[in-house]
Amino acid sequence: MKVLVTGGAGYIGSHTCVELLKTGHEVIVIDNFSNSSIDSLEQVSNIVNIKLFLGSNQDGQLTSFVFEEVDIRERAELDRIFSIYEVDCVIHFAGLKAVGESVEKPLNYYDNNVSGSLVLYEAMQASNVKRIVFSSSATVYGDPHAVPIKESFPLSATNPYGRSKLFNEGILNDLHTSDSKWSIALLRYFNPIGAHKSGLIGESPSGVPNNLMPYISQVAIGKLKSLSVFGDDYPTKDGTGIRDYIHVVDLAKGHVSALDYLIGKGDGNVLTANLGTGKGYSVLEMINEFEKISDVKIPYSIVGRRSGDISECYADPSYAKKILGWEVELDLAQMCEDTWRWIKNQ
Ligand code: NAD
Ligand code: WQD
Repeated sequence: MKVLVTGGAGYIGSHTCVELLKTGHEVIVIDNFSNSSIDSLEQVSNIVNIKLFLGSNQDGQLTSFVFEEVDIRERAELDRIFSIYEVDCVIHFAGLKAVGESVEKPLNYYDNNVSGSLVLYEAMQASNVKRIVFSSSATVYGDPHAVPIKESFPLSATNPYGRSKLFNEGILNDLHTSDSKWSIALLRYFNPIGAHKSGLIGESPSGVPNNLMPYISQVAIGKLKSLSVFGDDYPTKDGTGIRDYIHVVDLAKGHVSALDYLIGKGDGNVLTANLGTGKGYSVLEMINEFEKISDVKIPYSIVGRRSGDISECYADPSYAKKILGWEVELDLAQMCEDTWRWIKNQ
């Protein structure tokens, strides 16, 4: 299949490119490099040993792995891409993802994540490309009333980032209602961490990280002094927040499974599925595991709760297993080991 990957130079996108290329798909990446660079794609090329072609100088001659620097908000550029490459499916990662920043700059988030996606969906419709895998998030469950979280749980948003994911899910569902030829997978990711085992690609947030694992790993290499643990008074086993951390390579494989589903028995369907492990780990357990793997002490102090945080969030991943035949293979030790290798390589 010829797969257009928006945001393919980013953290989850680059790992998904590896899995797509490994399984024989042809990949066209578009990205505006607002949160990435060409380096990750060059490393993807090294990992799979497939040459990366830059730009449209290929004149439509599709090689296995092509990159075009395109912003999803540029309709003319998208039309050009769809006219050059005979795209079978889009995997749509492109977007902004920092919850706190979305509260400060809501219009940027709605512009990139909602308007940008609309431009993409319009260009797809105009080119008769009606297969899409969309990056949704567990954030669409808001503060869940119970765990593990099932896809049928009520949805809500507590910030513009989350609302942008809910809008996209709604827009894509409406598109399918209007035209049942649309085949759509809405994948709700839990907390992706880890890196490729080669140590060549991983997550590199700019500035001080917001998320737990990048923060822990920067403390481990001495770039940051100490971790602030946001609250130890949650009603959890040790009082700290519980999340479902999933290895980014398992997550990437979930996209290949979703693609296979859409080109097979899921043709003309909307699939909404959690991609998580079904296991929850506390912040203190994460620190302990990382210390064990890295053999480095992580200094931390307990501070107040972070506004907007919830106590506990982990998936019921059984629907993805049933429909996609997908389930995770990598455990927390592997997630920490791969993160550690990646961060030491930086
Ligand atoms: P990332 O920032 O590493 O990757 C996103 C990529 O999209 C970047 O390469 C960025 O340059 C690109 N991009 C942003 N706006 C663009 C635009 N207008 N046009 C073209 N390219 C653009 O983020 P990620 O962690 O890989 O996340 C990928 C997707 O998964 C996002 O949609 C995110 O909201 C979603 N998601 C991420 C997480 C997470 O914790 N990482 C969890 C749930 C959902
Ligand atoms: C995990 C746990 C924190 C940092 C966010 C988004 C969500 C999704 C994934 C995109 C929590 C605690 C964290 C720190 C800490 N992204 N923590 N000290 O908040 O579950 O989810 O990323 O869709 O939408 O909200 O992930 O890694 O920030 O936090 O104690 O310095 O670690 O309180 O319990 P979160 P996280």
